[in-house]
Amino acid sequence: MSNTPVQPEPQQLPAEPSESVPYMRKIRSFVLREGRLTKGQQNALDNHWPAFGLNYQDSPLNLEQVFGSSAPVVLEIGFGMGKSLVEMASNAPEKNFIGIEVHKPGVGACLGDAAAAGLRNLRLFEHDAVEVLNDSIADNSLSTVQLFFPDPWHKKRHHKRRIVQSEFVQLLRQKLRIGGVFHMATDWQNYAEHMLEVMQAAPGFTNLSATSDYVERPAERPLTKFEQRGQRLGHGVWDLMFERIS
Ligand SMILES: C[S@@+](CC[C@H](N)C(=O)[O-])C[C@H]1O[C@@H](n2cnc3c(N)ncnc32)[C@H](O)[C@@H]1O
Repeated sequence: MSNTPVQPEPQQLPAEPSESVPYMRKIRSFVLREGRLTKGQQNALDNHWPAFGLNYQDSPLNLEQVFGSSAPVVLEIGFGMGKSLVEMASNAPEKNFIGIEVHKPGVGACLGDAAAAGLRNLRLFEHDAVEVLNDSIADNSLSTVQLFFPDPWHKKRHHKRRIVQSEFVQLLRQKLRIGGVFHMATDWQNYAEHMLEVMQAAPGFTNLSATSDYVERPAERPLTKFEQRGQRLGHGVWDLMFERIS
């Protein structure tokens, strides 16, 4: 990965996904925002990428080799600035964590925090999560996939850009081991309903909600600053957890 603080220009957007993965052409779940790297983020990228960074590759990584252990692997899609991911990894040294994010300043921020916390059980990709999952992650290898506050794509005409789509959740099913869990959270009711609809129709999963819809936020998902503010303003947050059963 390049360490130069180059701003992402439109022509630097990742190449279109390959022909072999037709559904990926339809999901364009992110826009690469221009964002300056702070000095701290750039330093973190320069100093800590070798220890924490994973590069996209077109064949599955050996996760036992990557982590030097066969502990359960939790994979987070779109970790943002990575605060909650670092907190979860710090709180659960008995698990290994992989974070995927396309936003370079977020990757830099997360690297800095991960190094400061002395984490050994976290690795990061700076790449499109759909491509990473499809090509770099082995089938049946994940114990949890987490997707917290994905871009809601509010406007109806943009709903096709939402990452939670039936083909995408079948990709997750393939990568989760049987008994593994897909955990989503959103503060956008319309997206929560969309998630529920997609998951209810998805073969191979069972809803872990006692009421067949949403679950309470599990203690291991840290409450973000953003959520605390939302709670004060009376905004809702919906957590959904589905287990792979076949
Ligand atoms: C609304 S933010 C939420 C960030 C974080 N999860 C949180 O709760 O603060 C969504 C994040 O997902 C990232 N993202 C969206 N699609 C992605 C993809 N296909 N691969 C990797 N990251 C993606 C975006 O860059 C953005 O940082």
